[in-house]
Amino acid sequence: MSVQSTLDNRKTIRKFSDKVVSDELLYSLLESAGRTSTCGNMQLYSVVITRKPEILKQLAPAHFSQPACTNAPVLVTFCADYNRFNKWCRLNNAEPGYDNVESLLSAAVDTVALAQSFSLLAEENGLGICYLGTTTYNPRPIADALHLPSMVVPLVTLSLGYPAEQPALVDRLDVKSWVHSETYSDYSDADIHKYYDYKDQLPENQEFIKINKKQTLAQIFTDIRYTKKDGDFFSEAFVSFLREQGFLH
Ligand SMILES: Cc1cc2nc3c(=O)[nH]c(=O)nc-3n(C[C@H](O)[C@H](O)[C@H](O)COP(=O)(O)O)c2cc1C
Repeated sequence: MSVQSTLDNRKTIRKFSDKVVSDELLYSLLESAGRTSTCGNMQLYSVVITRKPEILKQLAPAHFSQPACTNAPVLVTFCADYNRFNKWCRLNNAEPGYDNVESLLSAAVDTVALAQSFSLLAEENGLGICYLGTTTYNPRPIADALHLPSMVVPLVTLSLGYPAEQPALVDRLDVKSWVHSETYSDYSDADIHKYYDYKDQLPENQEFIKINKKQTLAQIFTDIRYTKKDGDFFSEAFVSFLREQGFLH
């Protein structure tokens, strides 16, 4: 059996046309996305739509001025948010105790689920989107640019607009490599070769390996794209930010 869906052909878009993305469309897509499941129906998120050039300019360096960000007419930042919920509690004679990691994780799941529902709806309605993973690298300048108060943490930024490119479909691992039946079955070396070796053979990856003078695609990830040094540095920055925002003591 083969299920057909709009996801089969979806691609990240990093170049956008001049066609205006109306607020009416964005609010309507967000309203629909708001039907996504949410922890205790608390809706522990806020979404900031940014299109003013002066604010986009402030946000760009936090996203390393990557073209997927600077080419976009709109950035949508999805934030885990206890600020609003805590205010509601306090106005109703209830003392919130959500300044902890477990609460942040609940809000993070709500926020990411909302962002992904919105992405699907946006793509189904003709928009192209790009996740900006840089959001969790540089939360402080993003929070400053967007005036995020205590107990609000930016987690996902989507750059979006009407597509001005038609990129090729990017490969995915075979579904059998990441779905386990009943319990997790750990991978032998042979399994890893079976599932991953094709990636090194893809022309685009061979080119990448050659340009970067590496032997394997895995080294592109460990030595260039996602290094331990960067991971450790951005982790510390994120933990400090969580402390400043009131989630850690
Ligand atoms: C958490 C996350 C962070 C991402 N960060 C970036 C980013 O900073 N810049 C970018 O150009 N693409 C980013 N992407 C898009 C991925 O590169 C893209 O989804 C992946 O290469 C697969 O391509 P596809 O979406 O076209 O299938 C991100 C995607 C996710 C889910």
